[in-house]
Amino acid sequence: MKTTYRASDGAAYEVFLGRWTRVLAGPFSEFARLPAEGAIIDVGCGTGSLALALAEWRRDRVAGIDIALPYIAFARSREHGAGVDFVVGDACRLPYGDCSFAAAVAQLSLNFVADARRALREMQRVVRPGGVVAAAVWDFRGGLVYQRLFWDTAAGLDPQAGVARDRLFSSPLAMPDGLPRLWREAGLGMIERGSITIRMEYADFADYWEPLLGGQGPVGAYVAGLSQKQRQLIRERVRLSYLSGASDGSRSMTATAWAVRGTVPI
Ligand SMILES: C[S@@+](CC[C@H](N)C(=O)[O-])C[C@H]1O[C@@H](n2cnc3c(N)ncnc32)[C@H](O)[C@@H]1O
Repeated sequence: MKTTYRASDGAAYEVFLGRWTRVLAGPFSEFARLPAEGAIIDVGCGTGSLALALAEWRRDRVAGIDIALPYIAFARSREHGAGVDFVVGDACRLPYGDCSFAAAVAQLSLNFVADARRALREMQRVVRPGGVVAAAVWDFRGGLVYQRLFWDTAAGLDPQAGVARDRLFSSPLAMPDGLPRLWREAGLGMIERGSITIRMEYADFADYWEPLLGGQGPVGAYVAGLSQKQRQLIRERVRLSYLSGASDGSRSMTATAWAVRGTVPI
């Protein structure tokens, strides 16, 4: 298996997570301090949140690669999608020559790549000496309020939800030192670590809940496998948790990602 991410529908991903990864793209790029010039590769680009933002901000070529054909097809169809070289492929076998890029970035994807170490080796290989390799992954355990709310509520009703939550939340790369350790082991230089927080603004409970029904990622895969009765029960408890005693309406939830940046030794 090359990925642990369920990625079957680009439009469903957009309402579930893409709308928030577009918000993350700015602060993550700022953290990465990408070289002013040269091509950039976005690895595990999904529906193109980061790659499209980079293409808008930069003059040089931007490429995006993802293993999910539905996401790449969606990315290509987006406004300005033709301005990015979107390719279907595996992060562990990047279809580019050595030193082809000034930087490689991976936003929220490496923890879903079956062999992240190999993917990082590939990112290093395709970046020129002195270039930047940077990544971010959600801080599932301590920093992702919208998923905590869902998984902890569901786990109280269904042991299988607890199993899925624990697998996701215990991913070694999502630990505080997970990415920096990988960067150190790979021999990258000038390693810097960071923590980036954005806000997810939900209009009301329907805006929070309905995107979870789209079947994307671990949450979507879990919800899709529930019986109607189980789903209804979990929905009701999650709703109470979302409301937290107030009437339905907007909620602002923080989402924090760990980030790391390093340079390819000269
Ligand atoms: C949470 S999404 C993040 C997508 C995008 N970077 C964003 O910020 O919206 C994780 C992505 O990693 C991709 N992915 C997982 N394993 C992969 C692999 N082996 N090679 C390429 N992409 C992979 C998935 O298909 C999915 O699009």
